[in-house]
Amino acid sequence: MITIKDKQFEPFIHHEQIADRVAALAERLNADYQGKNPILIAILNGAFMFAADLVRHLNFNHEIQFAKFSSYDGMDTTGKVTELIGLSIDLKDRDVIVVEDIIDTGTTMYSLLPKLREKGAKSVEIAALLMKPGKLQVPIDVKYCAMQIPNEFIVGYGLDFDGMGRNYQDIYVVKEN
Ligand code: IMP
Ligand code: MG
Repeated sequence: MITIKDKQFEPFIHHEQIADRVAALAERLNADYQGKNPILIAILNGAFMFAADLVRHLNFNHEIQFAKFSSYDGMDTTGKVTELIGLSIDLKDRDVIVVEDIIDTGTTMYSLLPKLREKGAKSVEIAALLMKPGKLQVPIDVKYCAMQIPNEFIVGYGLDFDGMGRNYQDIYVVKEN
């Protein structure tokens, strides 16, 4: 059990299970991207741990960049998506893989994908650690997803509650009292 501010969180997904699912997702990318030299765009801050573990399993040439925007504050999505910052590479005719921690309502990815296509990307796919299918509000195709979870708030393995909890190697779910 961990406590962050006024919330308690209990163990939800063990790090060994996370590692298995990340490795399995990497195998799918290895099969699909041989010889393609894609660019991975890992979304900060949440995807840093997932991205670091994912790329260690990849066996095709690729580049990785870390980019940032903020659409989330505390436990409710604000629905507001700002520009992606930190992208210093030309996406023209590139295969792009967006590496994201979790797809919740989907609005963040829904607004980002057209912007990447406008930059001339040849293909754009999403590789997400987690997805809450029950909360999806927009039509997006998440081709690569390691795990699906119910509509619960989680922390750990890169994911935060008010900026904290990213450090844990397991994923924890909020305990409703
Ligand atoms: P969306 O735009 O609603 O899909 O929100 C996606 C973003 O919200 C993710 O990149 C996370 O940063 C954040 N988020 C969504 N669900 C959770 C959660 O359960 N824990 C921590 N962050 C979350
Ligand atoms: Mg995020």
